[in-house]
Amino acid sequence: MPNLLPPGSAHPPALQLIEWIADPLSYMESNFRDYGDLFTARWQSFVPFVFVNHPEYVQQVLGADPRQFDSGMGATILKPIVGEYSLLLLDGEAHQRQRKLLMPPFHGDRLRTYSEKVAEIADAVLGAYQGAKVRVRAVMQKISLGIILRVVFGLETGERYTQLEQLLTEMTEAVASPWRASAIFLPWLQQNWTAWGQFVRRRTAIDRLIFAQIDERRKQGLGADILSLMLSARDEEGNPMTDKEIRDQLLTLLLAGHETTASALSWCLYFIDRDPSIKQRLLNEIKQWDGNTETIGKLNYLHAVCQESLRLYPIAILTEPRIPRHDFTLGDYTFTAGTALVPCIYLLHQREDIYKEAKRFNPDRFLERQFSPYEYIPFGGGGRRCIGAAFAMMEMKMVLLSLLCQFDYRILPDRLGRPIKPTRRGVTVAPSPYLTMKMTRKKLGSCISQL
Ligand code: HEM
Repeated sequence: MPNLLPPGSAHPPALQLIEWIADPLSYMESNFRDYGDLFTARWQSFVPFVFVNHPEYVQQVLGADPRQFDSGMGATILKPIVGEYSLLLLDGEAHQRQRKLLMPPFHGDRLRTYSEKVAEIADAVLGAYQGAKVRVRAVMQKISLGIILRVVFGLETGERYTQLEQLLTEMTEAVASPWRASAIFLPWLQQNWTAWGQFVRRRTAIDRLIFAQIDERRKQGLGADILSLMLSARDEEGNPMTDKEIRDQLLTLLLAGHETTASALSWCLYFIDRDPSIKQRLLNEIKQWDGNTETIGKLNYLHAVCQESLRLYPIAILTEPRIPRHDFTLGDYTFTAGTALVPCIYLLHQREDIYKEAKRFNPDRFLERQFSPYEYIPFGGGGRRCIGAAFAMMEMKMVLLSLLCQFDYRILPDRLGRPIKPTRRGVTVAPSPYLTMKMTRKKLGSCISQL
């Protein structure tokens, strides 16, 4: 029966959309409890979203030829933010062409050259905090935004840097709670007189600064940053990227790259602090390290801590949607165009049959066993796997090293007793913004370069 969809909540679509916006984790968990490996979410004004939660089904979707699916049209809610040429919105040939142009800076030697810079930025930002009580996410965001602005845009401190930093922080804060994120999902809230209007005005100001930076880079000569690589990139026919394409990709890298990493780092700090034995093991491992950014690959426990944090709270809870172009069979169902299949990162990572005691933070599971690319998917998979995955892992490790080397830190209990729980932040899920830590500089404080 090709037209049948898997079962799902019987709540009216308007209510389901509210549940999804307000508390996505509870929405997914209760559907998983009731309906299992495949369930259908029906949200007002959206095509049906079929959540794919079993590794075999995830493999069938992510492992399939990407030409079988459209994803861009499933991500159109992001168009006002990242623009029509964003990698997130393109499909087919156009997607593959842009991906090829964008991939090289995120791999191999290039990545290694950026790690020094990342360490430098982390040291500099953290160095400004002496014995301070700080909001964890805000500090991590300052670091990750600084990294993107320097590494991707090639911007060094100055007026344009300060303006972009401020505007981008304001823009992301504007969708930083379920309530504020509603306008992304409810187009009727996208009005001049709502918070959306302010968002659009900020975006226009950001665009002006980005186009000015593109112009200046062209005139002043290219550097080692990713913008320069985009300006010099040519496709197979020898065509360069247009300014609009570059703007859309830059904004995509900015938003996809710094928000996610800042949230992931905040969770890592939270989990490391909760268990003194984990912190001690990390510090012991770091003591054995030669302090060279090229050898961070040897820090296995640090790597496992980052992996486990991205398992338990994976930031991106869904991959991009995959909308079949032709009939696509999964289990007992055949899906047609007009249905979005979404491998669910969060639910897959919570499965007890893959991860024993799944709710427990246990980095050792990654030292004891290798999980398949369809069991562990914090960066999605297949033809749309996150292009910044290696960069993000490198950045997370560098920032944690910088912090653990220079500071003793403690997560503080919330003064108002608010729980530290995963909260919607735009289309991602992050630790609640109240997460606070006290940072005390170590007496014989050492940073990466001095180790
Ligand atoms: C911890 C940090 C990060 C997480 C958890 C994350 C997660 C993801 C996920 C789940 C996807 C969708 C993949 C799919 O549908 O199969 C994705 C796509 C993407 N990510 Fe990341 N990401 C992170 C960091 C970054 C960074 C640092 C960059 C770049 C600077 C980046 C750039 C992108 C881009 C451009 C895409 C779209 C790929 C495409 O459509 O072809 N991400 N990311």
